[in-house]
Amino acid sequence: MEIVVVADFEEMSERAAADIITLLNEKPDSLISLAAGSTPTGTLKRLVEAQSQGKVDFSQAIFVGLDEWVGMDRTDEGSTQHYLYDTFFRPAQIREDQIFFFDAKAADLEQECQKIDRLIEKYGGLDLVLLGIGVNGHLGLNEPGVSLELTSHVMDLSETTKQVGQKYFAQETKLVHGITLGCQHFVEADKVILIANGEAKANAVAGMVQGEITSDLPASVLQKHMNAIAYLDKAAAALLKTDQ
Ligand code: PGA
Repeated sequence: MEIVVVADFEEMSERAAADIITLLNEKPDSLISLAAGSTPTGTLKRLVEAQSQGKVDFSQAIFVGLDEWVGMDRTDEGSTQHYLYDTFFRPAQIREDQIFFFDAKAADLEQECQKIDRLIEKYGGLDLVLLGIGVNGHLGLNEPGVSLELTSHVMDLSETTKQVGQKYFAQETKLVHGITLGCQHFVEADKVILIANGEAKANAVAGMVQGEITSDLPASVLQKHMNAIAYLDKAAAALLKTDQ
């Protein structure tokens, strides 16, 4: 994994968006998974702008949901789908036939996992994953303790994620399980871009980059990835040890 420390949120967003635009221009029919959350907002805004300026064209790309809170769909404010439709799919005029999500309200969630795994297989794997990192080192909703070899699966949420996740909701919301792509998907993706800003992420970032590869900190699995890049602002990179 390559580490790039940037000045701030704006530069992080600019660099991540520029990489995504380059990839899309090389392979317009890419299979892409985008994280929701506070971190990707600036990146997604730039992608929408780039498309409106004719610098990139998403009309052939396919988007697969990274994760969802079990029991929610795009009508639930705070769901990852709600966020992605608001922030990216609608403003970028992405068609419904380009978008695939877990149905996190389905009675048979196992079947939903298989559906998404098959979709990713059909396209020959993910071309690009844009990830944030949780304060506990999670990727998507792969929580500490997860098996790093899993593809799509349902996960019990950690206490940290149940609490931190409240920031996406207007009122207190019971969060119990997540449905998520697995770490194996990230390891096998052609390209992973991880973005992190703010001091709350510094511990998790240090573990991801300089700790051992361990399911206790799922993001550490990216150390194995030959084509992963992390854009970190100074605060998120503050606990990285330098050589000198
Ligand atoms: P955030 O979430 O971008 O809202 O900080 C990151 C994550 O939990 O993966």
